[in-house]
Amino acid sequence: MRYRDFLKTQLKNRLPEDIQLPSGFHIVGHVALVHLNSSLQEYASIIGDATLSFDDRIKSVAIRTGPTSGEKRHPDFEVVAGDCNTVTTHIENGVQFRLDPIRITFSGGNKRERINIVKQIKSGEIVVDMFSCVGQFALQIAKSTDALVTAIEINDDAYQFLLDNIRINKLENRVTALLGDCRKVHPINYANRIIMGYLHNTDLYLPHALDTLTQEGGIIHMHIAIQRDILEDTTSRIGEICSRKGFESQIQVRKIKNYSPGVDHVVFDINLGLL
Ligand SMILES: C[S@@+](CC[C@H](N)C(=O)[O-])C[C@H]1O[C@@H](n2cnc3c(N)ncnc32)[C@H](O)[C@@H]1O
Repeated sequence: MRYRDFLKTQLKNRLPEDIQLPSGFHIVGHVALVHLNSSLQEYASIIGDATLSFDDRIKSVAIRTGPTSGEKRHPDFEVVAGDCNTVTTHIENGVQFRLDPIRITFSGGNKRERINIVKQIKSGEIVVDMFSCVGQFALQIAKSTDALVTAIEINDDAYQFLLDNIRINKLENRVTALLGDCRKVHPINYANRIIMGYLHNTDLYLPHALDTLTQEGGIIHMHIAIQRDILEDTTSRIGEICSRKGFESQIQVRKIKNYSPGVDHVVFDINLGLL
């Protein structure tokens, strides 16, 4: 049964008839993350209790209490039912991710991208993941290819989980974790492939990514949340930034998902060679 229908059945006579129930939730390990509109906030705890019996995997239910904020991407959730311990292990494509999803974001929207990127990696690649979080891209790549990966993360909380996850997945010989701002701690003239999995003004970080690339070139996957009407201008500007750093670029843009009205989450695949 679909989640909304399940809630309707479970909570019959306990909620106003015409109220719009949520259509789904995001599950990370044993934690269900639910978005409720303002009219449902007062029913959070009974919706939480019902959600616990919807799926055997769910042991905690948290509702969103505000937007994800700041450079370190702090989510805002409150546990309303079940176990208050929300540190969990989420398994994606055979990789174990230990994290607390009410303190650290773990987006389902990038899942296909994480799996697809693995297929593109050639033997012997050197990869830098500039916005690593708990290792969403870095560990998928290291687990399924022979690439050596450097994972950079500024948020100490996420970095500690990244260290745990490298160990849990037995990838100590393949992944190096760096704590700090990727504009400062990135290696120079080093990688063939760079992943920029961050959505906010990511183009400002591009000059640093270009410094990390080997002088022969390579590929940069630059994610960004961008207004549709400035996509073309941004593509030209990216080309200019690359040529100022001495690279010729071929740029392809792919849409990952809708982000907000008029704004898409896209990835710029920037192939770079010597000018
Ligand atoms: C939303 S997460 C994305 C995780 C993963 N890359 C993905 O796309 O699924 C972005 C991460 O970038 C980190 N971050 C933001 N600014 C950073 C910076 N200047 N240097 C390194 N990490 C940064 C945040 O702390 C956060 O953990």
